[in-house]
Amino acid sequence: MSWALVPLTDQQKEIQQLAREFARREIAPHADKWDRDAAMDPAIITKLAQLGFLGMMVPERYEGLGLDTVTYLVALEEISAVDASVAVAMSVHNSLPTQMILRYGSEAQRERYLPAMARGEWLGAFALSEPEAGSDAAAMTTQAVRDGDGWILDGTKAWVTSGNQAGVILAMARTDRPGERRGARGISAFIITPELEGFRVGKKENKLGLRASPTVQLSFDRMRVSANQLLGQEGKGFVYAMQSLDNGRLGVAAQAVGIARAALEYSVRYAAERRQFGHPLKEFEAIQFKLANMATRITAARALLYSAASAKDRGEPITQFSSMSKLFASETAMWVTTEAIQIFGGYGYMKEYPVERLFRDAKVTEIYEGTSEIQRIVIARQLYAK
Ligand code: CAA
Repeated sequence: MSWALVPLTDQQKEIQQLAREFARREIAPHADKWDRDAAMDPAIITKLAQLGFLGMMVPERYEGLGLDTVTYLVALEEISAVDASVAVAMSVHNSLPTQMILRYGSEAQRERYLPAMARGEWLGAFALSEPEAGSDAAAMTTQAVRDGDGWILDGTKAWVTSGNQAGVILAMARTDRPGERRGARGISAFIITPELEGFRVGKKENKLGLRASPTVQLSFDRMRVSANQLLGQEGKGFVYAMQSLDNGRLGVAAQAVGIARAALEYSVRYAAERRQFGHPLKEFEAIQFKLANMATRITAARALLYSAASAKDRGEPITQFSSMSKLFASETAMWVTTEAIQIFGGYGYMKEYPVERLFRDAKVTEIYEGTSEIQRIVIARQLYAK
């Protein structure tokens, strides 16, 4: 099947091939078991790092590959097509904590964290949401209070991808005082490491999809962090988080495209093999129309994604395009995987067949890093932005 509507450079094709072969060799044989066990083998993270996939957009001086966003997303699509759980660890790590430190960190912070993160010694996580602050992220209540030249943090973070495996967590907390709340401007970003006293990993969530990727609560109980763990300027943490989600949402879009592509590829193969009423399914127009619509939507989702990523690589603002891309790709993934199950019929509903996991994994792409409703709000607000 040809997918090259947006032409890739030779280097991008090489990385695509590398990611595709790696995913088929190292991930595909285990993906169903990891899903059943609700745990991936942590060695897969080390292997991703050995390929350079945990520092894809990190400059070479911090031991990264120094690649552009499109190349990163090409690789991420390949991993996602085989196992969206492994892909989310890669996506969160590259798009959120790594980019935050690179963009807003001091030189000392970059030197301290980025090489070890690129080497896979410290997996990154991002802690924004709280049990009572999901879509309304600025309503968070985790509080950081000054203590000498450092801070003491108290609060609970929710739905943190890789939170129990992470060596570096970018956590947002309020630094305004309870009587003088400043809304989104009263939030700061902190670089948290798990050995801090008062850091606790809470409940591991039991999820519909992405079962091999751990999603946990984190709590901070009078957890003291030093001054050099504040990222950038005090009060700017919400804006840093939102700017980073502009990147992260492209990662989710690539993940959704990968899931949808896998569902289409399985469906195309199945429709050629499965016979009913004396003919292969692919000879029935009802099935042809489904396959054609699936392929068209996936190709459109990928074209929008690469266009948004190219805009980012040119240094242009991408808030709106990133939200459009995530919105369209995630709804495409949900729709395509639903159609795939329909094509597979009764078999599609069974765990023995691959489209069932893809369907479950697709759903969260419409929810995390901002629900589809939040993406529509971001897009609509940009229409009125001056
Ligand atoms: N880039 C730069 N700045 C931005 C921005 C962006 N994309 N979005 C907002 N801002 C700035 C605004 O300009 C504003 O700045 P000023 O105070 O200087 O004016 C400030 O941030 C506050 O913005 P809003 O007034 O728009 O804030 P809001 O409270 O209305 O919220 C929202 C906006 C878009 C709804 C936002 O809350 C949002 O995106 N919510 C969804 C949260 C989300 O995506 N959570 C996912 C968590 S990560 C995850 O899923 C877990 C995981 O591990 C995968």
